[in-house]
Amino acid sequence: MVRLSVIESVWVEDGAEVWPVYEAVLGDHSDYQSWREAVWDRHAARAGFRLARAYDGELLVGFAYGYTGENGQWWTDNARKVLQPDIGATWLGGHFELVSLGVRDAHRRGGIGRQLMQVLVQDLPHERLLLMTTSDSAHAARRLYASEGWHVLGPGTGDETVIMGKRTADVTRA
Ligand SMILES: CC(C)(COP(=O)(O)OP(=O)(O)OC[C@H]1O[C@@H](n2cnc3c(N)ncnc32)[C@H](O)[C@@H]1OP(=O)(O)O)[C@@H](O)C(=O)NCCC(=O)NCCS
Repeated sequence: MVRLSVIESVWVEDGAEVWPVYEAVLGDHSDYQSWREAVWDRHAARAGFRLARAYDGELLVGFAYGYTGENGQWWTDNARKVLQPDIGATWLGGHFELVSLGVRDAHRRGGIGRQLMQVLVQDLPHERLLLMTTSDSAHAARRLYASEGWHVLGPGTGDETVIMGKRTADVTRA
């Protein structure tokens, strides 16, 4: 049984706790300090920041986080370049951007990833949710997103990636 927690502001210790899981699961930064400088400290300071955590006992086994995406931010501006203009105009700016999601290997396939996604976006004030992920529709994350009502809006900003979106109103209608 995992315990879930959602917070909207973080201390240094929270980043230090997320890092080992981030590193084990995503492994795209060489060390804690460079991850903090390149990613975490900037993201955690953004408006609308939200972090969901899953614990097995005292051990952090999964996390998901995002923030309000705005024009002028790197990802929003670059997503606008790759999405069809009408889609970009409809979806980008003031959206909730789900930046990262990961569950430790040993804890996968038990519903933690789905619970993290659900609590992260629960009762958000944003009307539009966006994320970028692999273009491989058979990938675990793609299956999870599809089953949570996300759909592909167009190509992503990197090779073999797509941008997916979901309207929070869809939740109410479901
Ligand atoms: C994607 C990830 C977060 C899923 O976490 P999880 O706790 O294993 O997911 P869940 O147990 O909640 O599964 C939810 C759904 O995801 C899909 N899924 C999860 N693992 C899967 C797998 N190995 N193969 C196929 N589908 C899978 C299924 O649709 C599943 O629903 P089901 O159990 O009803 O079949 C996890 O695999 C992970 O951390 N992957 C590496 C990091 C990553 O890819 N992050 C996303 C970056 S965009």
